[in-house]
Amino acid sequence: MSEDSIRIFDTTLRDGEQSPGCSMNHQEKLTLARQLERLGVDIIEAGFPIASEGDFESVVAVAAEVRGPVICGLARTGVEDIARAGQALEKAAKPRIHTFIATSDIHLEYKLRMTREQVLEEVDRAVRQARGLVDDVEFSAEDATRSDRDYLVQVFSAALEAGASTLNVPDTVGYTTPDEYAALISYLREQIPGSDKAIFSVHCHNDLGLAVANSLAAVGAGARQVECTVNGIGERAGNTSLEEVVMSIRTRKDRFPGVDTEINAREIYPASRLLSSITGVSVQPNKAIVGDNAFAHEAGIHQDGVLKAAITYEIMTPESIGRASNELVLGKHSGRHAFRERLDELGLSVEGDEFEKAFVRFKNLADAKKTIFNEDIEAIVADMVEADDDRFELGELSITCGTFGTPSATVEIKVDGVNRKVTSLGVGPVDAIFKGISELTETKSVLEKYQVHAVTAGLDALGEVSVTVSEEGRRVIGRGAHEDVLVASGKAYVHALNKLEWHKQRRQVTAPKGI
Ligand code: KIV
Ligand code: ZN
Repeated sequence: MSEDSIRIFDTTLRDGEQSPGCSMNHQEKLTLARQLERLGVDIIEAGFPIASEGDFESVVAVAAEVRGPVICGLARTGVEDIARAGQALEKAAKPRIHTFIATSDIHLEYKLRMTREQVLEEVDRAVRQARGLVDDVEFSAEDATRSDRDYLVQVFSAALEAGASTLNVPDTVGYTTPDEYAALISYLREQIPGSDKAIFSVHCHNDLGLAVANSLAAVGAGARQVECTVNGIGERAGNTSLEEVVMSIRTRKDRFPGVDTEINAREIYPASRLLSSITGVSVQPNKAIVGDNAFAHEAGIHQDGVLKAAITYEIMTPESIGRASNELVLGKHSGRHAFRERLDELGLSVEGDEFEKAFVRFKNLADAKKTIFNEDIEAIVADMVEADDDRFELGELSITCGTFGTPSATVEIKVDGVNRKVTSLGVGPVDAIFKGISELTETKSVLEKYQVHAVTAGLDALGEVSVTVSEEGRRVIGRGAHEDVLVASGKAYVHALNKLEWHKQRRQVTAPKGI
C-alpha cells in the first residue's frame, strides 16, 4: 500500500448498525462482511465485542471467516473491554483493536467525570494493554472536534508513544466544517512528535450534512484513513458515506492527485443493495451514487444531451459502480446460469440448497408474472434467507375477510419445531393474522409501523411488506414478499419476531449498546 493510498475503514457493522432499525444478526453480518471483502475495504470494524454476546459472536465469526481485510473490534479503554475485544479477534488473520475515550471538556465533565490527567493515564494504559494482545492498535479521541487542540496533541502523543499506529480524530457530533477539520488535521500532524509514523484517520458524522465534505478536506490535509459506512448509515444522521468518498476521489483525480483507494467500485452498488435488503432500510431515491434517481435523467433537455453524448450530464457511469440495467432481466425461460449471474450482479451470494430454493421460487414467480425485475429477485432472496436458529416458522395461513362478518385468520406456526395453530379475529385481515401470530409466539413486542408496497409495476407485482417491531428498547425491521400481500404480512411479522428473539438470546448487560 503506497503512502498516498487511502485506507477505507468500514464501520457499517458497528457504527452503522447503531442506526435505528439497522441491527443485524450474526448471519446477516457475515453475509455483509463477505461483500465488504469483495468491495475491497481495507478494514472491517465488525462490532463492539463487550456490548453484547451477539456482538461478540459476530466479531468472532467475521474474524474467523473473512481473511482479506483487517478485522477490527471496538473497545472503550477499560481493562475488560480490551480483553473482550482481544478474545473476539483471536482467530483473525489481521486483528486490530480500536480503543477510544472522550477528550472534550464537555465529555470529561458531564460523562466521564474524569480530569484531563486521568484520561491521559487511561490512554497510555489502554493502548499498552491492547498492544499486548495485537500488533495493530487504533486509538480514537472521541469528540475530538470539540476538544482543546493542545490537549489533543498530548493525548495522541501518549497513544502513539504507547504503541498505537492509527490515530483517529472523530467528529463525533458532526459539528466541524471542512476548513476547520483540515486545519485540525494539519495542526496535529505538525505538533505530534513522530506523527509521520502514524496513519491519521477521520471519522465523521453527518449531523450538518458535512460528513463527506469534512472527510475529503481531511484527506487533502494528509489523513490517510477514512472511516465510513455503506449508504452512509450510522448514529443519528449517519456516518460518512463510503460510496460518496470513494467516487469523489476517483472522479476528481485532479483534486486528489496521486491519491486513491483499493476499492473495487463495481461492488459498490451490490453492497448498497445488499445492505438495504438485509436491514429493510431503503436508500432515499436522490441519494448520491446509489439512490434510484442518481443516474436518471428526467428533463428533456438532459435526456437529449445524454443521448448525444453521456458526458454532457454524466460525470460517472452507472456501470462503474456496478449498476446493472433494470430492463426486463429474466423470464420463465431463463436458466440457472442467468439466474446465478443476476444474483452475483446484485451482490446476493446464495449457495447450495438456498440457491436451489431461490431458483424454484424464481421459476414459480416467472410462471405467474411475465417480467422479472431486479427488485423481484432481491425480494425473493431477502424473503428466503432464514437464520438456522430461527425460533419461529410460519406455516399455512387462511384468511376470511370482506364486507360480510368479522375478518378472521387461521395461522399455523412452528415454535421451536413444534406445530401450533390458532384462529383469531381482527378489525381487518392483517390485524387478525398478527393477533394469531402474537398469541402463538407469546410475544410482548409492539408493532410500530406497517408498510406495504408493490415491488415492481403491474397488477401481478410481488407485494412486499415491512414491519417495524420493538421490545425493551430494541427495534427491528422484518420483511416478507409474496404474490399475496396478506401472506407477505405474516412473513414480515414472523421475520421481525425471529430477529428480536435472536437479540434476546444474546443480550448481555455488560455495556450499553452503542456509544
Ligand atoms: O463517533 C465516534 O466518536 C465513534 C468513535 C468510537 C470512533 O464512533
Ligand atoms: Zn461514530
